[in-house]
Amino acid sequence: MTRINHLYIHVPFCKTICSYCDFCHRVYNTNLVSKWLSQLDKEIIDKCHDEYSTIYIGGGTPTCLSCYELDKLLSLIDDYSRKVKEYTIEVNPETIDEDKVKILCKHHINRISMGVQSTDNSLLKLMNRNHDFEMVKEKIALLRNYGLNNISIDLMYSLPNQSMDILKKSLNDMISLDVPHISIYSLTIEENTVFGKKGYKSLDDEIEADMYEYINSYLTSKGYIQYEVSNYCKKGYESKHNLGYWNYDNFLGLSLAASSKIDNYRYTNTFSFDEYFNDYNAKSEDILLTVDDLKFENIMMSLRTIYGLNIKEFNEKYNCDLLVEYKKGIDNPNIVIENGYLKCTNLELLNNILLDFMN
Ligand SMILES: C[S@@+](CC[C@H](N)C(=O)[O-])C[C@H]1O[C@@H](n2cnc3c(N)ncnc32)[C@H](O)[C@@H]1O
Ligand code: SF4
Repeated sequence: MTRINHLYIHVPFCKTICSYCDFCHRVYNTNLVSKWLSQLDKEIIDKCHDEYSTIYIGGGTPTCLSCYELDKLLSLIDDYSRKVKEYTIEVNPETIDEDKVKILCKHHINRISMGVQSTDNSLLKLMNRNHDFEMVKEKIALLRNYGLNNISIDLMYSLPNQSMDILKKSLNDMISLDVPHISIYSLTIEENTVFGKKGYKSLDDEIEADMYEYINSYLTSKGYIQYEVSNYCKKGYESKHNLGYWNYDNFLGLSLAASSKIDNYRYTNTFSFDEYFNDYNAKSEDILLTVDDLKFENIMMSLRTIYGLNIKEFNEKYNCDLLVEYKKGIDNPNIVIENGYLKCTNLELLNNILLDFMN
């Protein structure tokens, strides 16, 4: 039986909904949460067979659940977390408090991903975020008091009205927190959000490119390594769970909207609460990947990190010769081979570079 090392669980609830976000979520409602927990329990019993090396509880906002519900959720997977090396939960600043931190510790969670997005109060208001930088500092100190030092923060750029100076100030504030991991995403305007409906636009490509360049050079100068297109860390603090995705490992995703990849089978659970409550096997996507799909996706995911693609492993896995088969893509000044790994040296251009890997 195929071994799966990585488990993701999607918590589809948030206390309030941010103006830019189109992740699968509903406003918190205790009756709905209780139905969801009992259906998730059944899905876990049916599908979890391994002890996982990484577990990621994402959302939505897992910490918008009450203490009782959060404890119940984490109890459901206690049996599968014994071998876990990295156990992450997403939190946002206004929904985490001391009682919830104690629950995270009780279940041996050892990594926190906190959505901060910006430290500029007028941008936070525009995004419908209910925190300021003071609160972020307080909550990070609280987490550290309980030994939760492996903290990642999410930031966003190319936000409407965001000037370079505002971005610089947010980055500077972030650095003062001295967290070991930072994820930075450029805003995507999703149709189905307040930003989309109000017709907001992301900033011009040129400004966005300047911002990306600034973020890179600033964080690098402060000792962070850009180890993936949108991710920076201090040495040794890469996200092991996400490295699993970029390594093209198998993973199991549970609850609404979660995706799974098991060998050549990829599927995504339904986005509809009604469908999920009716049948946790209901799917929104269900694909058997061809060998060519697998090879291309494996290259695409592995080139996202600075560690790149292990050529020997790739050739053995797919019984092929990468250097011959993908010569067109590899013949690019931004693609190099180092110690048996194929690497992309300009992650900003990756999407264009990948076009030549399509057979
Ligand atoms: C699914 S959210 C969960 C985080 C947590 N609920 C919070 O808000 O603090 C993960 C991250 O995705 C990013 N994100 C969400 N919508 C986005 C969008 N439209 N464009 C770019 N990044 C987005 C945000 O940085 C967010 O922190
Ligand atoms: S960014 Fe986080 S809190 Fe905001 S709507 Fe998305 S998942 Fe919910």
